[in-house]
Amino acid sequence: VTASVNPGGDVAVLVAAAGSGLRLGPGPPKALRLLRGEPLLVHAVRRLLGCPEVGCLVVAAPPGHEEWVRDLVGPGVTVVSGGAHRRASVAAALAAVPERFGIVLVHDAARALTPPAQVAAVAAAVRAGNDAVIPVLPVVDTMTQVGPSGEVLGTLDRSGLRAVQTPQGFRRAVLTAAHAAAHTAAAGPAATDDAGLVERLGVRVYTVPGSELALKITTPLDLAAAELLLGA
Ligand code: C5P
Repeated sequence: VTASVNPGGDVAVLVAAAGSGLRLGPGPPKALRLLRGEPLLVHAVRRLLGCPEVGCLVVAAPPGHEEWVRDLVGPGVTVVSGGAHRRASVAAALAAVPERFGIVLVHDAARALTPPAQVAAVAAAVRAGNDAVIPVLPVVDTMTQVGPSGEVLGTLDRSGLRAVQTPQGFRRAVLTAAHAAAHTAAAGPAATDDAGLVERLGVRVYTVPGSELALKITTPLDLAAAELLLGA
């Protein structure tokens, strides 16, 4: 990527890119899988650098692939080694953000086609005074809770449910506190995102509209869908 961060930007973005991508089938780590000839991470970083508010970008790379990732993203982006799980990768990236950034966004490299407008909307909602902001979409399927033997425990009211995307935006102190608390907490159900950690602090999380383009590329079907979306 030849673009760099905007020195005047007030937002730091952390990119979790250290996942293995097992659900995509055998191959390199997910962020390095190709989409129209370029790694997913390159698509994601290029879109993030297209946002003028982004003044700092830190990528958590798959351990062992740091040099490869540095070559891909260019000198304007900081690269750190990711951890064994997503939360550890985000914590490692957060530790590399200079003090002056008071707004931090956390993004999945797997959401490689996220439009810059979604990044801007999340950052703007934090700047407007919200401690934590997530982009969400209505769910299309009926959602039901299932017990250990496969029996239905109860069907949820879909009208109140949303699917949660990234980037998720935070006042920096809130994100730091959420990660510190998660690090010391007794093992409970693993949080699958950062807003989940922030909720445990009792901090209110606000929503903004997400986008179908911000889909998390997880399975071969998602990769095929992303190829089509890029061509459209
Ligand atoms: O596994 P999941 O699809 O929830 O991963 C979401 C994001 O977290 C992906 O972009 C993946 O690269 C990242 N991740 C990470 N470090 C890990 C595991 C996942 O940065 N150890």
